[in-house]
Amino acid sequence: METKVFDYFAALYNDRAALDKAFYRAAALLRAGELVAFPTETVYGLGANALSAPAVAKIYQAKGRPSDNPLIVHIADEAAADELAEVTPLAKKLMAAFWPGPLTLVLPAKPALPRVTTGGLDTVGLRMPAHPAALALIEAAGLPIAAPSANLSGRPSPTSAAHVYHDMRGKIPLVIDGGETAAGLESTVLDLASPVPAILRPGVITAADLAEFIPGLTEQTQLPKGGVAKAPGMKYRHYAPKARVVLCERAELYPAYVAALKEAAQRGEPQPKIAVLASLAGLSGLAQAEHCFLLGENLTQVAQNLFAALRWTDEINADLVLAERFPETGLGIAIMNRLNKAAAGEPLPQPAAQGEKHD
Ligand code: TXA
Ligand code: MG
Repeated sequence: METKVFDYFAALYNDRAALDKAFYRAAALLRAGELVAFPTETVYGLGANALSAPAVAKIYQAKGRPSDNPLIVHIADEAAADELAEVTPLAKKLMAAFWPGPLTLVLPAKPALPRVTTGGLDTVGLRMPAHPAALALIEAAGLPIAAPSANLSGRPSPTSAAHVYHDMRGKIPLVIDGGETAAGLESTVLDLASPVPAILRPGVITAADLAEFIPGLTEQTQLPKGGVAKAPGMKYRHYAPKARVVLCERAELYPAYVAALKEAAQRGEPQPKIAVLASLAGLSGLAQAEHCFLLGENLTQVAQNLFAALRWTDEINADLVLAERFPETGLGIAIMNRLNKAAAGEPLPQPAAQGEKHD
């Protein structure tokens, strides 16, 4: 199958006829049960008609995703939420405050929704994305759109159309290119179907942002025993580049870099290609490192660039990735959640033997 890429902003500003035609075609594809990748403010989504079991099955197939991992359903107006889920008063307040935006609400699902969409659960994650192309697509299709992140299962989520094209080329007919995504990390997933609301996946909207509506909520709020399971997707290895990823405190980056080189030398191996992912402050101590990716100067930029950085380590065929740890407060919680998954708990390389100097 040929995968076409449509440039949303170029058409929006220069060619409204092309824009109308493209969305007409995209909507027709979705109504015919095909997949369309589209931008959101978090990451790119791989969309299908959420009401069609065969269409949704194509998502799992294209991604290579386990079918017990539920999909988020994207809508363009609050009325659609009532058709798909039991919308509680708290959910209504959160929709008013945060939609359109990067907040997914898990609510009891109504029967209209095929269980293949919800991964067999009786609940559904709903979200109204804030990207104009996403909203236009949902409206044009006139359907709720089930969409996971548009990456191959286990790979970093796509934050540009090029990332989607890389993973989905030949598997889907259309990618809508809406530029680089603003947030760079997937939406916050909030469980409202259990007796105690809980964050299942941290994101740009933090517990502190939600606490005005849910007093006492923290990212660590645990579900009571017997409550609904955590977001099933969180149990799978995610965001993983091919190379081993090791997380280091800022001050550990340089010693870890040197230790990894020495270790290879001691084993008589060629020098490994070490990719360093760090903030400006983190990189400043690593002038000699050849393969550095600047994540940014603040946590917002780090979030925006993190998945592109992980993909870059694959492009350069890194042997080892050293990534800076960030403080686990505010947005840092979501960043570290993704970094910990990318690292999947790898230990630091052993420091050089005592008495040796780190240079
Ligand atoms: O920002 C986002 O949320 C992006 C864009 C495309 O909207 N989508 C996304 O979807 O990240 P996905 O499928 O990659 O991740 C959805 C996460 C998974 O961890 C899944 O297990 C969880 O949300 N989830 C979805 N529905 C759920 C439900 N009913 N109960 C618990 N967890 C749910
Ligand atoms: Mg995903």
